[in-house]
Amino acid sequence: MTKTIDDQLFFEVAGQVIGKARYDEMKNCISHSDITVYQHCIKVAYTAYSFAVRHEIPCDLRALIRGALLHDYYLYDWHDPNKGFRWHGFKHHRFALRNAERDFPLTGRERNIIYSHMFPLTFWCLPKCREAWIVTLADKRVAAEETLKKYRKKA
Ligand SMILES: [Fe+2]
Ligand SMILES: [Fe+2]
Repeated sequence: MTKTIDDQLFFEVAGQVIGKARYDEMKNCISHSDITVYQHCIKVAYTAYSFAVRHEIPCDLRALIRGALLHDYYLYDWHDPNKGFRWHGFKHHRFALRNAERDFPLTGRERNIIYSHMFPLTFWCLPKCREAWIVTLADKRVAAEETLKKYRKKA
């Protein structure tokens, strides 16, 4: 039996983050293809949330949503060669965490979600809770979909 997803909780928690502080700046940054980092983070958060609810994984859903929404809060366009953002894949989790800590009150779990979301590329930043594992998987799934979309467009 498929568990129904309670969108109300998602939107209530998302409302604490989306549109607050510098969140809207992510609308100006591209993730992959023509998807903005703003759209990407919301998609990752909803994918992670619905996965946890559907499979009834015991976890802190509020932390999961907040951490996922902020996992790419690095606030620059990594495609811009003039800005010299080298090694984006290896570094942006740190920039995202620094910005998120500055702009939002974060729990330890939320910090770990942001810090470890590039695992295993950043193999030294281990996901230390279920929420972080779910977000890192959701991020890869959504990023793969976005990248496929880019290549389908080119074909
Ligand atoms: Fe990322
Ligand atoms: Fe991401």
